[in-house]
Amino acid sequence: MSRISTAIAVSGKGGTGKTTLSGLLIVSLVKAGKTPVLAIDADPNATLNETLGVKSDKSIGLLREEVRENIDSIPVGMPKETFLEYQIQDAVIEEKGFDMLAMGRPEGPGCYCYVNSVLRKYMDQISGNYPYVVMDNEAGMEHLARNTTRQADYLLITTDPSIRGIETAARIRDLAEEERLKIGHIYLVVNRVEPDSELNSALKEKIDERKLDLAGIIPRDSLIEEFDLEGKPFFDLPDDAPAMIAAKKILEQITRR
Ligand SMILES: Nc1ncnc2c1ncn2[C@@H]1O[C@H](COP(=O)(O)OP(=O)(O)OP(=O)(O)O)[C@@H](O)[C@H]1O
Ligand SMILES: [Mg+2]
Repeated sequence: MSRISTAIAVSGKGGTGKTTLSGLLIVSLVKAGKTPVLAIDADPNATLNETLGVKSDKSIGLLREEVRENIDSIPVGMPKETFLEYQIQDAVIEEKGFDMLAMGRPEGPGCYCYVNSVLRKYMDQISGNYPYVVMDNEAGMEHLARNTTRQADYLLITTDPSIRGIETAARIRDLAEEERLKIGHIYLVVNRVEPDSELNSALKEKIDERKLDLAGIIPRDSLIEEFDLEGKPFFDLPDDAPAMIAAKKILEQITRR
């Protein structure tokens, strides 16, 4: 099956803006008509749906548990795989311009891996339906070793504008490279930069020293804080909101190469 979609995964230390960046990218893509976008929330502590104004009560994790508990309830005469495909399809929330899939909790020690293998096959089949796939990941680096992020055209690593943050981002990049993930290109995104200012020279030097490729910076934007507090979807952000403009630029920058 040929893969014609562009997959963008977002990773980074806790609280550095992964979900915010993912949400902004998805909204930019939808507003630009690059639809349908597939939004994947791969953080068990799902919050991407809130930035998109979606109520999410379904996830692959829940499905996995349900299947484990009700393995006998599969309709007679229906192949198990077909049944599961229907279930996975049912977990996809369809919205205007995008679909959303929450991965939920990863499997525990008593893994029911059959769901995962059907899921992988299903994702391969459907990803061609979406010109863009954007995946918000949980904090840290563990998920890189799991299946969800193994394949992406671009991995964006978010950081706050600090030397230590850039060090951490570089370590996440190193790990991604060590794991030999199938990732086309890895970029850094510096978030919550002082409004109307550039990166200071110490940060720029650190980025060069660690050989990180900067996709762009996102300013601290009071509208983002306000929307977060009030639970408002990013679709209602004005097009000229500084964070929105920054996300658009980042998209142009990464898809240029
Ligand atoms: N550019 C920005 N301007 C203002 N506030 C921001 C910006 N980016 C993120 N925030 C705020 O910072 C907080 C953390 O952001 P976010 O949830 O996107 O981080 P995260 O990396 O996804 O966190 P977690 O590791 O918990 O998943 C949120 O309250 C968000 O609204
Ligand atoms: Mg998050």
